[in-house]
Amino acid sequence: MKEKIQVISAQAKLEITNADSVKILTDLKVKYLGKSGMVTELLKGMRDLPKEERPNAGKLVNDLRAEIEGFFAEKESVLKEIELQKTLETEAIDITLPGKTNKLGALHPITLIKNELIDAFTGMGFEIFEGPEIEEDYYNFKMLNIPEDHPARDMQDTFYVNDNILLRTQTSAGQVRVMLDKKPPIKILSPGKVYRSDDDASHSPIFHQMEGLVVDKGITLCDLKGTLDEFCKIMFGKDAKTRLRPSYFPFTEPSVEVDVSCSECHGKGCKLCKGTGWIEILGAGIVNKKVLEGCGIDSEVYSGYAFGMGIERIAILKYKIPDIRLFYENDLRFLKQFK
Ligand code: DAH
Repeated sequence: MKEKIQVISAQAKLEITNADSVKILTDLKVKYLGKSGMVTELLKGMRDLPKEERPNAGKLVNDLRAEIEGFFAEKESVLKEIELQKTLETEAIDITLPGKTNKLGALHPITLIKNELIDAFTGMGFEIFEGPEIEEDYYNFKMLNIPEDHPARDMQDTFYVNDNILLRTQTSAGQVRVMLDKKPPIKILSPGKVYRSDDDASHSPIFHQMEGLVVDKGITLCDLKGTLDEFCKIMFGKDAKTRLRPSYFPFTEPSVEVDVSCSECHGKGCKLCKGTGWIEILGAGIVNKKVLEGCGIDSEVYSGYAFGMGIERIAILKYKIPDIRLFYENDLRFLKQFK
């Protein structure tokens, strides 16, 4: 019995010491200490011993068991340490590597300018009104006093859906919708997309406009001039000046073209302003009485001014962009510059 125990002890010590994984160690545990393991079998064998030898033999087997358990405990802690080191090595984070950055998008230059325009005018008390892009001839032309034979109604300029429905050619269509819906005082700003059958370096079939309309008692061209002076100072700097030139629009009478002093040469004349010192930025005027009356507003009591500007045109001036098509090509090299 004693020899048997010594052999098992030596064998267990050797095998446990050589085990190099938790898996092997677990298998060895079964082999020695499991239900039908070698130590358990020894205990079972006690039955066959003479009675008087049993206590002594039992003690020997129990000591063997304790000894083997000791081998296991020792080896387990060594293996766990090794495994921990391995995990630490394979899952190590190299904090010296450059971080992963997410590329951030940015607002489109047209949106930037649109927001600036909205800020400037809402700061002066204008409310935003957005009309539909698919519009009726009635709002886009007829109610704005644009006669049947006006060139803007030509198939060349307007995208028609059918005889009465079209893609709006101007945000001015919104003026009519507002005046039919609301009684004065009216002070609205209407930004949005407009469509014309035009395509070259300075024209795009889709572009953006910003319409303004003020209707109240006693509104004159002076109010228009004052508002646009203020707007130009906000948009182009404190030194910006405006001038009005006579013009014609069917829905305003009198009508004006508004120029801003050239921000490049400050009036001396340069390439940007074609030597004139001024740059045209928008059309405007006093709302034609026919338009007011058509919308049910008494033109003897009320008067109004309106203006409409191209947002691209303002962006082109502000950012000095040579070709309108750059706005729509989605070239990131261009768009990134406005971050
Ligand atoms: N709708 C005009 C255009 O597209 C711009 C314009 C001119 C708007 C005069 C107005 C205005 O409100 O009064 O060219």
